[in-house]
Amino acid sequence: MAKKTATLTLNIDDETKCMDLPIYSGTVGPDVIDVGSLLSEGLFTYDPGFMATSACRSSITYIDGGKGTLMHRGYPIEQLAQKSSFVELCYLLLFGELPDGQQYTHFESRIRNHTMVHDQINNFFKGFRRDAHPMSILCGVVGGLAAFYHDHMDITVKEDREISAIRLIAKMPTIAAMSYKYNIGQPFNYPRNDLSYSENFLYMMFSNPCEEYKLNPVCAKAMDRIFMLHADHEQNASTSTVRMAGSTGANPFACISAGIAALWGPAHGGANEAVLKMLDEIGDASEENIQHFIDRAKDKNDPYRLMGFGHRVYSSFDPRARVMKETCDEVLTELGMADEPQLKIAKRLEQIALEDDYFIERKLYPNVDFYSGIILKAMGIPTNMFTVIFAVSRTVGWISHWHEMLSDSYKLGRPRQLYVGSSQRDYRSKK
Ligand code: SDX
Repeated sequence: MAKKTATLTLNIDDETKCMDLPIYSGTVGPDVIDVGSLLSEGLFTYDPGFMATSACRSSITYIDGGKGTLMHRGYPIEQLAQKSSFVELCYLLLFGELPDGQQYTHFESRIRNHTMVHDQINNFFKGFRRDAHPMSILCGVVGGLAAFYHDHMDITVKEDREISAIRLIAKMPTIAAMSYKYNIGQPFNYPRNDLSYSENFLYMMFSNPCEEYKLNPVCAKAMDRIFMLHADHEQNASTSTVRMAGSTGANPFACISAGIAALWGPAHGGANEAVLKMLDEIGDASEENIQHFIDRAKDKNDPYRLMGFGHRVYSSFDPRARVMKETCDEVLTELGMADEPQLKIAKRLEQIALEDDYFIERKLYPNVDFYSGIILKAMGIPTNMFTVIFAVSRTVGWISHWHEMLSDSYKLGRPRQLYVGSSQRDYRSKK
């Protein structure tokens, strides 16, 4: 029972009516007002972009945009990034608690033993042009996985949901690496069971039959850190897409394919690829050159935006951007690329923007995408694979929210609208 209520006074058509709306409080963060009873008064709420609308209750991730904090199941992202691993974070996101030794070993081996894809899936790739964007391949192939796993696809059965989650987390790196190999015309690499999750991904990406692949532990650690920093972010656009698709009863592979499609947009997960294109376009770190692009981003008449800057929720630094910037310095120093021009441009751009009133007034700070692309590029990953890597990581977040929703009571998602079209009129042909 709600402890607090909001009293709404409606003054409509000279009639005044008061309604008590329940207020619910979470563990932390803003209270929410249950507006469901407005329907009985023939009223809808109106909140395009869902700026102030909670679509669900969740215990997976909490973000405080004002303080710039992010925690997964209560653990701050900074601590997880320093002390945990991506596979352990997958367990935490899916099941709600950190695993003990035995639980971790069992979970990790389940992931490891599901990394291969059915050999028929290799034929999917042949239908794409070689220059197909790997995100388009990922959308298609992941949706197609539903054709292979009917044995455990009853979404009302917890164990079926868990095996689908394991399969998706395990197979995403394999499919992602296959899309890269298909793009460059090299043979696919099968996953290896003697490598960690992140080592395996880099192996499948860069190994070729002509020489022994040497793993770089710095790159493997950076890859694992990047996977951790992108794993989940509460009700972002792609996660909300997965929840919406899941609310119809669609199978988990179709839901994740929908999430991949939503992530692809440059306002969301496509920003990391767009940041590198922006840094390439800026070209040099000279003050006047950078100022020219900042002025364009500030110009109301110019749709140009600083990619990797700003966030719907963070009105301060994205905590992931801080960790990503440290990782960027570590990796580029380790690889002898500390003077990488794009890193210098990025740092200068950040410095100038953060001192500019336009960005200060709008509370626009670097987000998770601002530095990630520089690290990925330094590791030899092409820009068209950046959002694919974001999708590989975010799959655990998507499927954890899907699993949480189906484990709780939920309703089919079906928003309403403010209709501003023609009133009723009779048909008269104009031909
Ligand atoms: C991700 O939701 C999540 O959690 C997402 C994510 C996740 O982990 O899932 O964190 C991942 O998507 C990060 C965001 C990546 N996108 C980009 O870096 C693209 C560039 N950023 C912007 O497009 C923008 O900041 C958004 C889309 C991220 C947020 O935009 P909002 O909240 O809709 O805010 P807005 O567009 O209404 O902007 C408010 C003002 C506007 O100016 P005014 O109309 O007030 O004069 O800020 C300006 C905007 O023009 N503005 C920018 C800007 N971002 C906002 N101006 C220049 N450059 C920018 N990047």
